[in-house]
Formats: sequence, C-alpha cells, structure tokens
Amino acid sequence: MTKLLLLPGDGIGPEVSAVSRRILDVLAIPGLEVTEALFGGASIDRHGVPLADDVLAQALASDAVLMGAVGGPQWAAVAYDKRPEAGLLKLRAAMNVYANLRPARCFAALADASSLKRELVEGLDILFVRELVGGVYFGEPRGIERLPNGERRGFNTQSYTTHEIRRVATTAFELARGRGRKVCSVEKANVMESGVLWREEVQKLRDESYPDIELSHMYADNCAMQLVKAPLQFDIILTDNLFGDLLSDLAAMSTGSLGMLPSAAIGVAGTPGLYEPIHGSAPDIAGKGFANPCASILSLAMALRHSLGAPQAADRVEAAVEAALDAGARTRDLGGMLGTAEMGEAILAKLAG
Ligand code: IPM
Ligand code: MG
Repeated sequence: MTKLLLLPGDGIGPEVSAVSRRILDVLAIPGLEVTEALFGGASIDRHGVPLADDVLAQALASDAVLMGAVGGPQWAAVAYDKRPEAGLLKLRAAMNVYANLRPARCFAALADASSLKRELVEGLDILFVRELVGGVYFGEPRGIERLPNGERRGFNTQSYTTHEIRRVATTAFELARGRGRKVCSVEKANVMESGVLWREEVQKLRDESYPDIELSHMYADNCAMQLVKAPLQFDIILTDNLFGDLLSDLAAMSTGSLGMLPSAAIGVAGTPGLYEPIHGSAPDIAGKGFANPCASILSLAMALRHSLGAPQAADRVEAAVEAALDAGARTRDLGGMLGTAEMGEAILAKLAG
C-alpha cells in the first residue's frame, strides 16, 4: 500500500493537478491510494490558515505529496506568516525535505522555444540540487523592527551548519554517480562566511568520500552568467536555498518554458517526498484552461520514481510527454493552441499507445 496526497493549491494548480490525477487513474498503480486536500490560499479561504494541522499530518503519513502551486494577489494582504507561501515553507520544513532536485532539461522538440539560441540549449540536462529547508529562508533572527531614530529595519539571517551542508551535498554526489559524475557547487564565498563554510565542507566531503566525482566551485553571480552564456558546461549544480531559487528559474526559462519543469524535494531515505512544478500559481492565466500541465505530470513521474516505488511507470509517463511534444502537441506557453485538458489527452494517447 502506498499513499499519494494531492495538494492542488491555487491559481493554475487545480487545473494542472486535475490532469495528473487523470494520468494516475489511467496508470492504475496497484496499491496506490490517492487523496486530495486544501492547501495555500484555498485553505486560507476555508480554514484561515494555509496549512491545516490535519493536512500536515496527512502529508507526513503519505509516501509522496504532489503539489500544484500556491499564492495569488488575493492573499497578498494576509499577515506574512499566514500567507500561502508560509504554508509551503512550513510543509517543506516539517517534511524535512532538504534536497530539492530541479532538473532543467531541454526537450529536443522545444529547443526553438528557448530564449537562447538552439545550439546553446540543445541537449541541455542540468540537475539543480537546491538546499531547501535552511539558509536565509529560515534563518533567525529575522523581522522588521523600528529603530530609535524612527527608521524601520528589515533583516534576515543566512546561516548553514556543517550538517545541513553535508547532507544536501551527499545527495548531490550520490546523484552525480548516476549521471555525469560532475558537480559544480555555487555560493558567494567572496562575500559571505556561510559561503566560505559551504565551499570548505563540500570540498571536504568530496575528498573524503567521493574522489570519483569532479567537483568545481563557482560564485553565484558568475553561475548566472555562465547559465546564459554556456549552459551545456553544467551537469549537477549544488547550491543553497536562495541562489537555488533564482538560478533554477533562470535555467528553466532557457529550456523553453517554466511550464515544463518538475521538481522533487527529498529528505532522509524512507520519509515522504514533496513534488511540485517549478512554476507558480500564474494567477494571470488561471481558470482560462490553457496552462501547461507538463510540469505537474513530470513531477508526478518523479514521485513515482523516488517515493512510490514505480520507476517503470515514471519512465512511461516521461516518454509519453516527450512523444506528445515530438508529435507537435503544444500549449500556449510553447507557442501552440492546446488547452490544459487537451494537452493531457495528447499525453494520455501516447501513454496508451
Ligand atoms: C519556488 C518558489 C517558492 C520558493 C516560493 C513560492 C515560496 O519560488 O519553489 O521556487 O521561493 O521557494
Ligand atoms: Mg522560485
């Protein structure tokens, strides 16, 4: 018996999640129980909080959680710690999913949709390993205070411990063994002590336990430049929570569309994983029926592979997405005309055939 919890969330989240649910129905994985719950703004509207206690308990008792997206302008005025995004951070922290895998892969059929020239992105396959439950997103102290001179001061703390760095680096090195055996570790050791520690600990771990992996170090600003200039040089990029947020969006766009890219957040082996599209809730196109469901579907594939013990089903789903794209299926973000459900049907047809 395995359990998958769907948290469709807000904006385009429910539309794209509905397509993944269809795919799950067709796959009919034996022993897989699928449930759905409110999360984010949708939960605020009903319960006043973005993540209700019983939903958190359900998530922790699942094997995998598949999220849609959270947030939207209607909750922008809600107190900071009650916003949809706060619910997401609480969920990530409670699940302790410290390693966020964000593949930026350029599908051959989409190389021309990239904002970069085809020859720069053709064959692109970068895996970001982003630290997800530490750093400046969670560091204390944090807040906004009033100074004696009447000015206000906003502050956050960037902090990483040896243990936090080593566990996520271990995930990156282990994954590197199944890929190109190359890791580029990214920080700002030139200006930040947390970056100095990051660099030292990652290098130490490599020297101790992963001598077969080629490790390089890069400053985050240079990495941003290199991702636009020569992205094919990268295999795995290991980085912290904030830089990983920025750099993964940057690389995602160069693959053609944010609407294509999935992510997996995993922690200690045997604990549930959290799977989500990289894209946000896209309130501007929500409810119009043309959001790209591929990122959700590919996130489902990652859940099948990493948490639900169904790697063959994962391969089938990924192959069906690729085959549908090769056959010309396109949502609007990819320059086509298909609606969300139609794109889902095109993928389902490949899954069946
Ligand atoms: C992401 C998002 C989130 C983040 C937000 C919604 C909290 O941008 O998953 O990349 O910053 O981590
Ligand atoms: Mg982001």
